[in-house]
Amino acid sequence: MTHPASSPLIPKAELHMHLEGALESELLVTLARRNGVPLPTYDPDVLDARYRFGQLQDFLDVYFDNLAVMRTAEDFHDLAALYLRRARENGVTRAESFFNPMTHVGAGVPLAAVMEGYGAAFADARREGLSCDMILDFTRDLGAEAADQMLTDFAPFRDMIIGVGLDSTEVGYPPVLFRDVFARAAADGLHRTCHAGEEGDPEYVRQALDDLRVERIDHGLRAVEDPELLKRIAAEQIPVNVCPLSNVALRAVDRMDRHPLFAMLDAGVPVTISSDDPAYFGGQIGANFAALEDIGTSQEVLIGCIETSFEAAFIDAGERERHLAALRSAV
Ligand code: ADE
Ligand code: ZN
Repeated sequence: MTHPASSPLIPKAELHMHLEGALESELLVTLARRNGVPLPTYDPDVLDARYRFGQLQDFLDVYFDNLAVMRTAEDFHDLAALYLRRARENGVTRAESFFNPMTHVGAGVPLAAVMEGYGAAFADARREGLSCDMILDFTRDLGAEAADQMLTDFAPFRDMIIGVGLDSTEVGYPPVLFRDVFARAAADGLHRTCHAGEEGDPEYVRQALDDLRVERIDHGLRAVEDPELLKRIAAEQIPVNVCPLSNVALRAVDRMDRHPLFAMLDAGVPVTISSDDPAYFGGQIGANFAALEDIGTSQEVLIGCIETSFEAAFIDAGERERHLAALRSAV
Protein backbone atom coordinates (compact mmCIF):
# COMPACT_ATOMS: atom_id res chain seq x y z
CA MET A 1 0.00 0.00 0.00
CA THR A 2 1.73 3.18 -1.17
CA HIS A 3 -0.64 5.85 0.19
CA PRO A 4 -3.25 5.77 2.96
CA ALA A 5 -6.92 6.26 2.10
CA SER A 6 -6.82 9.74 3.65
CA SER A 7 -4.16 10.84 1.15
CA PRO A 8 -5.15 13.28 -1.61
CA LEU A 9 -3.34 10.88 -3.96
CA ILE A 10 -6.11 8.32 -3.49
CA PRO A 11 -9.09 9.22 -5.72
CA LYS A 12 -12.46 9.18 -3.99
CA ALA A 13 -16.11 10.15 -4.44
CA GLU A 14 -17.79 12.46 -1.93
CA LEU A 15 -21.53 11.75 -1.95
CA HIS A 16 -22.73 13.42 1.27
CA MET A 17 -21.81 17.04 1.71
CA HIS A 18 -23.84 20.24 1.83
CA LEU A 19 -22.50 23.23 -0.11
CA GLU A 20 -23.88 25.52 2.60
CA GLY A 21 -21.83 23.52 5.10
CA ALA A 22 -18.63 24.55 3.32
CA LEU A 23 -19.03 28.17 4.48
CA GLU A 24 -15.69 28.56 6.23
CA SER A 25 -15.47 31.42 8.73
CA GLU A 26 -13.10 33.43 6.57
CA LEU A 27 -15.53 33.38 3.64
CA LEU A 28 -18.42 34.02 6.05
CA VAL A 29 -16.71 37.24 7.20
CA THR A 30 -15.88 38.28 3.63
CA LEU A 31 -19.50 37.82 2.53
CA ALA A 32 -20.88 39.54 5.64
CA ARG A 33 -18.73 42.59 4.89
CA ARG A 34 -19.54 42.49 1.17
CA ASN A 35 -23.29 42.44 1.84
CA GLY A 36 -23.45 44.53 5.02
CA VAL A 37 -24.85 41.66 7.09
CA PRO A 38 -24.01 41.92 10.80
CA LEU A 39 -22.14 39.05 12.51
CA PRO A 40 -21.63 38.59 16.27
CA THR A 41 -17.87 38.88 15.60
CA TYR A 42 -15.70 39.37 12.52
CA ASP A 43 -12.83 37.27 13.85
CA PRO A 44 -12.82 33.93 11.98
CA ASP A 45 -11.01 32.18 14.85
CA VAL A 46 -13.64 33.30 17.36
CA LEU A 47 -16.38 32.17 14.98
CA ASP A 48 -14.72 28.74 14.64
CA ALA A 49 -14.38 28.43 18.40
CA ARG A 50 -18.17 28.73 18.77
CA TYR A 51 -18.73 25.54 16.78
CA ARG A 52 -19.47 23.20 19.67
CA PHE A 53 -22.77 21.43 19.38
CA GLY A 54 -24.84 19.34 21.76
CA GLN A 55 -27.06 17.91 19.01
CA LEU A 56 -28.16 18.33 15.39
CA GLN A 57 -30.49 21.28 16.07
CA ASP A 58 -27.71 23.32 17.77
CA PHE A 59 -25.70 23.02 14.57
CA LEU A 60 -28.64 23.74 12.26
CA ASP A 61 -29.43 26.95 14.15
CA VAL A 62 -25.91 28.29 13.51
CA TYR A 63 -25.80 26.92 9.95
CA PHE A 64 -29.05 28.66 8.94
CA ASP A 65 -28.15 31.90 10.79
CA ASN A 66 -24.85 32.09 8.92
CA LEU A 67 -26.62 31.71 5.57
CA ALA A 68 -27.99 35.26 5.97
CA VAL A 69 -24.71 36.42 4.35
CA MET A 70 -25.57 34.65 1.07
CA ARG A 71 -27.24 37.23 -1.19
CA THR A 72 -25.92 37.27 -4.76
CA ALA A 73 -24.92 34.90 -7.55
CA GLU A 74 -21.30 35.83 -6.84
CA ASP A 75 -21.67 34.68 -3.21
CA PHE A 76 -23.01 31.29 -4.30
CA HIS A 77 -20.24 30.99 -6.86
CA ASP A 78 -17.58 31.74 -4.27
CA LEU A 79 -18.98 29.22 -1.79
CA ALA A 80 -19.20 26.37 -4.31
CA ALA A 81 -15.81 27.25 -5.82
CA LEU A 82 -14.24 27.05 -2.34
CA TYR A 83 -15.71 23.60 -1.71
CA LEU A 84 -14.84 22.25 -5.16
CA ARG A 85 -11.23 23.42 -4.74
CA ARG A 86 -10.99 21.82 -1.30
CA ALA A 87 -12.53 18.61 -2.67
CA ARG A 88 -9.92 18.37 -5.41
CA GLU A 89 -7.17 19.11 -2.87
CA ASN A 90 -8.47 16.06 -0.96
CA GLY A 91 -8.37 13.72 -3.95
CA VAL A 92 -12.08 13.88 -4.76
CA THR A 93 -12.62 12.96 -8.41
CA ARG A 94 -16.41 12.67 -8.19
CA ALA A 95 -18.49 15.11 -6.11
CA GLU A 96 -22.27 14.92 -5.61
CA SER A 97 -23.19 17.95 -3.54
CA PHE A 98 -26.38 18.87 -1.70
CA PHE A 99 -27.71 22.42 -1.54
CA ASN A 100 -30.71 23.92 0.29
CA PRO A 101 -32.41 26.42 -2.04
CA MET A 102 -35.50 26.74 0.18
CA THR A 103 -33.45 28.62 2.77
CA HIS A 104 -32.14 31.17 0.30
CA VAL A 105 -35.47 31.72 -1.45
CA GLY A 106 -37.09 32.13 1.97
CA ALA A 107 -34.56 34.91 2.68
CA GLY A 108 -35.58 36.72 -0.51
CA VAL A 109 -32.77 35.55 -2.81
CA PRO A 110 -34.02 34.72 -6.32
CA LEU A 111 -33.64 31.02 -7.18
CA ALA A 112 -32.01 32.15 -10.44
CA ALA A 113 -29.19 33.86 -8.49
CA VAL A 114 -28.55 30.72 -6.43
CA MET A 115 -28.38 28.52 -9.52
CA GLU A 116 -26.38 31.02 -11.58
CA GLY A 117 -23.67 31.12 -8.90
CA TYR A 118 -23.57 27.43 -8.06
CA GLY A 119 -23.87 26.50 -11.74
CA ALA A 120 -20.91 28.68 -12.77
CA ALA A 121 -18.64 27.15 -10.10
CA PHE A 122 -19.64 23.60 -11.09
CA ALA A 123 -19.08 24.38 -14.79
CA ASP A 124 -15.59 25.75 -13.99
CA ALA A 125 -14.72 22.66 -11.93
CA ARG A 126 -15.88 20.36 -14.74
CA ARG A 127 -13.68 22.26 -17.20
CA GLU A 128 -10.79 21.63 -14.80
CA GLY A 129 -11.48 17.88 -14.88
CA LEU A 130 -13.62 17.24 -11.80
CA SER A 131 -16.73 15.13 -12.26
CA CYS A 132 -19.37 16.92 -10.18
CA ASP A 133 -23.13 17.32 -9.91
CA MET A 134 -25.68 18.89 -7.59
CA ILE A 135 -28.54 17.35 -5.59
CA LEU A 136 -31.46 19.56 -4.47
CA ASP A 137 -32.14 18.94 -0.78
CA PHE A 138 -35.57 19.72 0.61
CA THR A 139 -35.55 21.26 4.09
CA ARG A 140 -37.81 18.81 5.89
CA ASP A 141 -38.98 21.11 8.71
CA LEU A 142 -40.45 23.51 6.12
CA GLY A 143 -42.91 20.75 5.24
CA ALA A 144 -44.01 18.73 2.24
CA GLU A 145 -46.05 21.48 0.58
CA ALA A 146 -43.04 23.79 0.47
CA ALA A 147 -40.91 20.95 -0.92
CA ASP A 148 -43.50 20.31 -3.62
CA GLN A 149 -43.58 24.02 -4.49
CA MET A 150 -39.77 24.08 -4.72
CA LEU A 151 -39.80 21.15 -7.15
CA THR A 152 -42.33 23.03 -9.29
CA ASP A 153 -40.35 26.29 -9.15
CA PHE A 154 -37.19 24.39 -10.00
CA ALA A 155 -38.46 23.40 -13.49
CA PRO A 156 -36.31 26.00 -15.34
CA PHE A 157 -33.20 24.60 -13.60
CA ARG A 158 -34.12 20.91 -13.85
CA ASP A 159 -31.06 20.02 -15.93
CA MET A 160 -28.71 21.44 -13.28
CA ILE A 161 -29.46 18.66 -10.79
CA ILE A 162 -29.21 14.87 -10.83
CA GLY A 163 -31.39 14.13 -7.83
CA VAL A 164 -33.24 15.17 -4.71
CA GLY A 165 -32.60 14.61 -1.01
CA LEU A 166 -34.13 15.48 2.35
CA ASP A 167 -32.26 17.08 5.24
CA SER A 168 -32.43 19.37 8.33
CA THR A 169 -34.39 18.68 11.54
CA GLU A 170 -35.20 14.98 11.41
CA VAL A 171 -37.30 14.00 14.44
CA GLY A 172 -40.92 15.05 13.94
CA TYR A 173 -40.58 15.12 10.13
CA PRO A 174 -40.69 11.46 9.04
CA PRO A 175 -39.92 10.62 5.40
CA VAL A 176 -43.48 9.44 4.67
CA LEU A 177 -44.64 13.09 4.69
CA PHE A 178 -42.60 13.58 1.51
CA ARG A 179 -43.84 10.52 -0.39
CA ASP A 180 -45.65 12.44 -3.12
CA VAL A 181 -42.87 14.92 -3.84
CA PHE A 182 -40.30 12.11 -4.06
CA ALA A 183 -42.64 10.21 -6.41
CA ARG A 184 -42.84 13.31 -8.62
CA ALA A 185 -39.05 13.61 -8.61
CA ALA A 186 -38.70 9.92 -9.53
CA ALA A 187 -41.19 10.31 -12.39
CA ASP A 188 -39.02 13.16 -13.68
CA GLY A 189 -35.97 10.87 -13.76
CA LEU A 190 -34.30 12.30 -10.66
CA HIS A 191 -32.26 10.17 -8.26
CA ARG A 192 -33.39 9.99 -4.63
CA THR A 193 -31.51 9.97 -1.32
CA CYS A 194 -32.57 10.92 2.20
CA HIS A 195 -31.08 11.81 5.60
CA ALA A 196 -32.54 9.18 7.92
CA GLY A 197 -31.45 7.56 11.16
CA GLU A 198 -29.11 10.40 12.15
CA GLU A 199 -31.35 11.16 15.15
CA GLY A 200 -34.56 9.49 14.00
CA ASP A 201 -35.28 5.87 14.93
CA PRO A 202 -35.08 2.90 12.51
CA GLU A 203 -38.64 3.59 11.31
CA TYR A 204 -37.30 6.74 9.60
CA VAL A 205 -34.85 4.61 7.62
CA ARG A 206 -37.56 2.09 6.76
CA GLN A 207 -39.84 4.88 5.50
CA ALA A 208 -37.02 6.32 3.38
CA LEU A 209 -36.76 2.92 1.67
CA ASP A 210 -40.47 2.06 1.44
CA ASP A 211 -42.16 5.44 1.03
CA LEU A 212 -39.50 7.52 -0.73
CA ARG A 213 -37.92 4.60 -2.63
CA VAL A 214 -34.48 6.11 -2.11
CA GLU A 215 -31.39 4.69 -3.77
CA ARG A 216 -29.08 5.72 -0.93
CA ILE A 217 -29.38 6.65 2.75
CA ASP A 218 -27.51 9.56 4.35
CA HIS A 219 -26.20 8.78 7.86
CA GLY A 220 -28.48 5.77 8.55
CA LEU A 221 -26.80 5.29 11.95
CA ARG A 222 -29.79 4.10 13.93
CA ALA A 223 -30.53 1.33 11.42
CA VAL A 224 -28.05 -0.76 13.45
CA GLU A 225 -30.62 -0.86 16.28
CA ASP A 226 -32.86 -3.06 14.11
CA PRO A 227 -31.10 -6.25 12.94
CA GLU A 228 -33.84 -7.10 10.41
CA LEU A 229 -33.58 -3.65 8.84
CA LEU A 230 -29.81 -3.88 8.71
CA LYS A 231 -30.08 -7.29 7.01
CA ARG A 232 -32.49 -5.81 4.49
CA ILE A 233 -30.20 -2.86 3.69
CA ALA A 234 -27.36 -5.33 3.15
CA ALA A 235 -29.52 -7.66 1.03
CA GLU A 236 -30.71 -4.78 -1.15
CA GLN A 237 -27.17 -3.30 -1.19
CA ILE A 238 -28.43 0.21 -0.37
CA PRO A 239 -25.36 2.43 0.10
CA VAL A 240 -25.21 4.36 3.37
CA ASN A 241 -23.27 7.64 3.21
CA VAL A 242 -21.65 8.09 6.61
CA CYS A 243 -19.93 11.24 7.95
CA PRO A 244 -17.76 10.25 10.95
CA LEU A 245 -16.57 13.68 12.15
CA SER A 246 -20.10 15.10 11.84
CA ASN A 247 -21.58 12.23 13.86
CA VAL A 248 -19.12 12.73 16.72
CA ALA A 249 -19.41 16.56 16.59
CA LEU A 250 -23.23 16.36 16.79
CA ARG A 251 -23.09 13.57 19.40
CA ALA A 252 -25.03 11.11 17.30
CA VAL A 253 -22.05 8.86 18.16
CA ASP A 254 -20.24 9.13 21.49
CA ARG A 255 -16.83 7.84 20.36
CA MET A 256 -15.29 7.28 16.96
CA ASP A 257 -14.31 3.71 17.83
CA ARG A 258 -17.96 2.94 18.61
CA HIS A 259 -19.22 4.35 15.30
CA PRO A 260 -22.10 2.23 13.86
CA LEU A 261 -20.35 2.14 10.49
CA PHE A 262 -18.34 -0.83 11.76
CA ALA A 263 -21.50 -2.81 12.56
CA MET A 264 -22.89 -1.83 9.15
CA LEU A 265 -19.77 -3.12 7.41
CA ASP A 266 -19.89 -6.36 9.46
CA ALA A 267 -23.49 -6.84 8.30
CA GLY A 268 -22.47 -6.39 4.64
CA VAL A 269 -23.92 -2.89 4.16
CA PRO A 270 -22.17 -0.75 1.49
CA VAL A 271 -20.71 2.23 3.39
CA THR A 272 -19.18 5.42 1.98
CA ILE A 273 -17.35 8.21 3.84
CA SER A 274 -18.00 11.97 3.44
CA SER A 275 -17.58 15.25 5.29
CA ASP A 276 -21.24 16.46 5.59
CA ASP A 277 -20.47 20.08 6.54
CA PRO A 278 -16.68 20.45 6.38
CA ALA A 279 -16.56 24.04 7.70
CA TYR A 280 -18.25 23.02 10.95
CA PHE A 281 -17.07 19.54 11.94
CA GLY A 282 -13.29 19.65 11.79
CA GLY A 283 -12.39 18.90 8.26
CA GLN A 284 -12.82 17.77 4.72
CA ILE A 285 -13.23 14.20 3.48
CA GLY A 286 -9.48 13.52 3.96
CA ALA A 287 -9.78 14.41 7.66
CA ASN A 288 -12.72 12.02 7.96
CA PHE A 289 -10.62 9.16 6.58
CA ALA A 290 -7.73 10.25 8.82
CA ALA A 291 -10.00 10.11 11.90
CA LEU A 292 -10.83 6.49 11.04
CA GLU A 293 -7.15 5.71 10.45
CA ASP A 294 -6.32 7.23 13.86
CA ILE A 295 -8.48 4.63 15.63
CA GLY A 296 -6.79 1.81 13.71
CA THR A 297 -9.30 1.11 10.91
CA SER A 298 -7.53 -1.02 8.31
CA GLN A 299 -6.62 0.35 4.91
CA GLU A 300 -8.43 -2.61 3.36
CA VAL A 301 -11.69 -1.44 4.96
CA LEU A 302 -11.14 2.22 4.05
CA ILE A 303 -10.18 1.53 0.45
CA GLY A 304 -13.28 -0.69 0.31
CA CYS A 305 -15.39 2.32 1.35
CA ILE A 306 -13.79 4.35 -1.44
CA GLU A 307 -14.59 1.63 -3.99
CA THR A 308 -18.16 1.66 -2.66
CA SER A 309 -18.29 5.44 -3.11
CA PHE A 310 -17.70 5.05 -6.85
CA GLU A 311 -20.13 2.15 -7.03
CA ALA A 312 -22.81 4.21 -5.24
CA ALA A 313 -22.24 7.37 -7.31
CA PHE A 314 -24.96 8.46 -9.73
CA ILE A 315 -22.74 8.00 -12.81
CA ASP A 316 -22.79 5.71 -15.86
CA ALA A 317 -20.89 2.43 -16.06
CA GLY A 318 -18.11 3.82 -18.25
CA GLU A 319 -17.32 6.66 -15.87
CA ARG A 320 -17.53 4.31 -12.89
CA GLU A 321 -14.97 1.99 -14.46
CA ARG A 322 -12.61 4.91 -15.16
CA HIS A 323 -12.72 6.02 -11.51
CA LEU A 324 -12.23 2.47 -10.22
CA ALA A 325 -9.28 1.91 -12.58
CA ALA A 326 -7.69 5.15 -11.31
CA LEU A 327 -8.23 3.98 -7.73
CA ARG A 328 -6.67 0.56 -8.46
CA SER A 329 -3.60 2.16 -9.97
CA ALA A 330 -3.22 4.60 -7.03
CA VAL A 331 -3.30 2.08 -4.17
N1 ADE B 1 -27.97 19.80 6.84
C1 ADE B 1 -26.66 19.98 6.80
N2 ADE B 1 -26.06 19.02 7.53
C2 ADE B 1 -27.02 18.22 8.02
C3 ADE B 1 -27.04 17.07 8.83
N3 ADE B 1 -25.94 16.51 9.32
N4 ADE B 1 -28.24 16.52 9.15
C4 ADE B 1 -29.36 17.07 8.68
N5 ADE B 1 -29.38 18.14 7.91
C5 ADE B 1 -28.23 18.72 7.57
ZN1 ZN C 1 -25.89 15.76 5.73
